Amino acid sequence: MIRCWRLDDGRQTLVIGSAKGRLAEVVYWGPSLPDEEDLTTLYETDTLDVTGGMLDANPEISICPEATRSFPGQPGLIIRDTDGTPFLPKFCFEQAERKDDVLILVYLDQTRALTYTARFAIDPETHIIEASAEIEMDRPMHLHWLSAPVFPAPQLADEMIDFAGRWCGEFQMNRTPWSPGMRYRENRTGRTGHEHFPALIIPCRGATNATGHAYAFHYGWSGGHRMVAEELPDGRRQVQFGAAARMEGRPLTRFSTAKLYAVFSDDGLNGCAVAFQRHLRDRVVTWPFPDRPRPVHYNCWEAVYFDHNLDELKDIAERAAALGAERFVLDDGWFGNRDDDTRALSDWEVDMRKYPDGLTPLIDHVKSLGMTFGIWFEPEMINPDSDIFRAHPDWALGGEDQIMGRQQMALDMSLSAVQSFLFARMSSILAAHDIDYIKWDHNRVLPMPDAAQTRGSYALLDRLRAEFPHVEIESCASGGGRIDFGIMERTQRVWLSDSNDAVERLRMQHNASIFLPMAVTGSHVGPRTCHTSGRTIDIRFRSWVAAQRHMGFEMDPRELTTEEWHVLHDTTAWWKDNRDWLTFADILRVDSADDAVFAEQHLEQGGGRFVVFAGKSATSHQIAPRPLRLTRLSPDAKYRVELRNREDRPFWSRGPMPLKEGPIVVSGAYLMYHGLTLPWNYPETMWVIEGSLA
Ligand code: DGJ
Repeated sequence: MIRCWRLDDGRQTLVIGSAKGRLAEVVYWGPSLPDEEDLTTLYETDTLDVTGGMLDANPEISICPEATRSFPGQPGLIIRDTDGTPFLPKFCFEQAERKDDVLILVYLDQTRALTYTARFAIDPETHIIEASAEIEMDRPMHLHWLSAPVFPAPQLADEMIDFAGRWCGEFQMNRTPWSPGMRYRENRTGRTGHEHFPALIIPCRGATNATGHAYAFHYGWSGGHRMVAEELPDGRRQVQFGAAARMEGRPLTRFSTAKLYAVFSDDGLNGCAVAFQRHLRDRVVTWPFPDRPRPVHYNCWEAVYFDHNLDELKDIAERAAALGAERFVLDDGWFGNRDDDTRALSDWEVDMRKYPDGLTPLIDHVKSLGMTFGIWFEPEMINPDSDIFRAHPDWALGGEDQIMGRQQMALDMSLSAVQSFLFARMSSILAAHDIDYIKWDHNRVLPMPDAAQTRGSYALLDRLRAEFPHVEIESCASGGGRIDFGIMERTQRVWLSDSNDAVERLRMQHNASIFLPMAVTGSHVGPRTCHTSGRTIDIRFRSWVAAQRHMGFEMDPRELTTEEWHVLHDTTAWWKDNRDWLTFADILRVDSADDAVFAEQHLEQGGGRFVVFAGKSATSHQIAPRPLRLTRLSPDAKYRVELRNREDRPFWSRGPMPLKEGPIVVSGAYLMYHGLTLPWNYPETMWVIEGSLA
């Protein structure tokens, strides 16, 4: 008997089917199929022929490939009995439940010792498919590996894109050609990591940012993932995602994967990006006050580091507010005897040497300036030089002889004593003060991977959020070390990078936008000379790069010249004037014909308005700028296009051009098929182009 199910969202169809009660497989995934398509015929048609040197039938790439079915690739489940004996399940269909856009498939192992459940949910508005798997046993077992439901990868794709990175260099895109065998990425650091953003994009041959077919995946888990992108000997391809292997320390009777977010796009990488951006903003994140505009931040880290002085902070707050800041975030250094990064983590009590009357005088001052107040914590961490470590050395995770990271250890988040302690200390600070924001940091990798640690972090976040639902949380881990949809179910912002260098940020933001909308992506105007790169950058470029995302400042405002102050003030005012629509706009990566130019088009929902940020990271190879081809406009419509910052053109931009004089009106067709030619400009500058339906 053949059973088939389909999920549709108007743009893509996913067909899942199986025969003879065996585990189901994805039979089709791509552009929408006609309603009347006969799925049984489709299932049968998908059968691969056999020839010499092959088995007599081809084992299917099921949603959890079984080792017992001579599967020629990586299995989807590796599990052992407590005595170490491998348990090799053979699944039989038990039941299917179909409700609206959700499909749940249940399979029982033939010995009835193990139940496997897969869940698929397709979102008709965002076009994201959420897929997850769970196993339940009749006795505790050791889990080695459990993949979220396995998807096939397209055959007409020559390469795959995944992400690497480092501190101050997040979201580097790597392209790897498909070839027989597998690309295997496993992050065993215990946190999402700068190095391992858990995602894969498969552009089909010829796909660009704006056109062609592309498939993309993201695994929403903060404890380190494993990805297998494998081409089998017969040429078929499979994609597996799950938590890193051997993360479960104890035998249990139930394990589940995090959600795998998957999407097919028929309009290039941007189709994937828009789906992820909208899904994250509108489905994953929960906003304490959904109608409140994203406030402009001021964060004092790079202004004062650990050197907190009340009068100075008040002065800085006044200057930040005058520039346009609406939330003041007090970073590291306010607690214990935290005079540098060697001590006091976990001593979460206000440092009375720095704040003799507590935090209230600073908070009151900040509030009197019209700003709200946020505060930094690094809850999962402890310095050996801290009162809490001296009292509870057994709370630290890992051995005494472990290598320290920033002179600190992780707390064992699976211990209920640790959970209670952290909840008590953090909630007493939150309850006693008018605080609406936490910057939640995590500055080292774990001594060993451990899924219980991530579950412990999630539990603490969930408990604090339930108690303080008005508090927003930013996920930071030495910058972008904990960015994923799992943490974003519990937070509202990410600190993309510790690099406030606008040149570096330009690229990072551009790549991260495949997953992250403006609303969640923090971006701050840093000091004139960047503290992490040493590069000196003009205030115009710094301001506009921050204005591409959730804007903030992090420099010491006392360093600003009058001219810098005015530029920053004006850009901030522009951002505030436009944030209502920018927050919900789609960020589209423009296919740039110039390697030096990172351009993106923020398109208002409905398409009536856009802004293009064309950032030039370096000098170009050719002397004259190449036209920028915009995207997703109506070809027949007329658009009024204006260079917002045309006054910034340099002396060496000498020729007459209408755009230098004022707005022009051209068709969408021209803007998309020929492109907009911009004036010449220096490296490390940004043209800002505003457009609207004429
Ligand atoms: C690392 C973060 O990424 C920085 O922004 C800052 O909060 C420091 N930690 C504080 O120690």
